[in-house]
Amino acid sequence: MTDARAPKRLFIETYGCQMNVYDSERMRDVLTPLGYAVTDKPDDADLVILNTCHIREKATEKVYSEIGRLRAHKERRALEGKGMTITQEGCDKFCTFCVVPYTRGAEFSRPLADVLSEARSLADKGVREVTLLGQNVNAYHGGAAFTDLLSELAAINGIARIRYMTSHPIEMTDDLIALHGSEPKLMPFLHLPVQSGSDRILKAMNRKHDGAFYRDIIARVRAVRPDVALSTDFIVGFPGETEKEFEATMQLVRDVTFASAFSFKYSPRPGTPAAGMIGQVSEDEQSERLQRLQALLFSQQTAFNASQVGRTLPVLVTGKGRMPGQKHGRSPYLQSVHFQDTHAQNGDIVDVRITGSSQNSLTGELPALMPA
Ligand code: 5AD
Ligand code: SF4
Repeated sequence: MTDARAPKRLFIETYGCQMNVYDSERMRDVLTPLGYAVTDKPDDADLVILNTCHIREKATEKVYSEIGRLRAHKERRALEGKGMTITQEGCDKFCTFCVVPYTRGAEFSRPLADVLSEARSLADKGVREVTLLGQNVNAYHGGAAFTDLLSELAAINGIARIRYMTSHPIEMTDDLIALHGSEPKLMPFLHLPVQSGSDRILKAMNRKHDGAFYRDIIARVRAVRPDVALSTDFIVGFPGETEKEFEATMQLVRDVTFASAFSFKYSPRPGTPAAGMIGQVSEDEQSERLQRLQALLFSQQTAFNASQVGRTLPVLVTGKGRMPGQKHGRSPYLQSVHFQDTHAQNGDIVDVRITGSSQNSLTGELPALMPA
């Protein structure tokens, strides 16, 4: 039987991490055979899906407050980069604050051949950059080591850039660290959540690493790839966190220096061990610590962006910029770059001379347009 009616229109809005972006794509794939065609106009849609994140309850609240502002998100989505694939979801780490092992289940790795064939077909469609996604992507065990998967991806001609996200410090093997120095397609950006700088808190979080272990990994990655941009996640106000323990987090930030970071107030998630721990930190105290941490992190991010001014960076073009004649793209360090140009196509990698920076992005010009 055929359905003679016009296709039903589907609008999906995604909040949260790249895992959610991937899930939204899967929802689209499931709904397409049922007669849904994707629209970017929520007003025209027969079905609107708001795909949010349950890791932190704030994300859920945000959806409610942003329902009325859906239209403003249209532009941002058009700018989204090209390819993406996923190695695994789920997690076996059981950090005491986290719902993922309960809601997403055990770590699962897609077979190597499967990931490679998806990457090849993305490359055939013109995708230049592939990001391997997973809660603990570097714990990959799909019949080959994670580093073998990365190397095989790097051997695909059309793929120019490879990233992976998110990683757990205890899975940063010597081979993976070495690959950051030897594989030019592996981008100089590492998102490696640390959560806290206090060893006692890390233990209470069941993170399976201490501050020294984390610092050592960073030092070894920097030894092989000195320009690597580091990114991380922090939780402030974990149950029992004292001012001194919070200060250890601040000190870790001062010592390591991050190019970007996500930081959150601890939020008790039902069913997780930390939710029942004594010494829950008051909301006021959490807010005050988060403010201090973010002020430091933002100053580091601004300084990192400013350090690119004067350099010429290879930028992957991802779409149109906000201004007429402007393009948008991504630097090797995952920074947003806006530059004047009308010729470059999405997927091109062009050299852009960086002329300005702000906390969140860079601006630049094509060298050919620069006055001699
Ligand atoms: N409270 C606050 N932040 C959390 N995260 C995970 N669970 C919680 C929680 N209960 C943060 C961690 C993790 C990121 C994805 O979300 O920092 O790395
Ligand atoms: Fe959650 Fe990440 Fe810890 Fe897994 S490693 S339990 S996903 S915070």
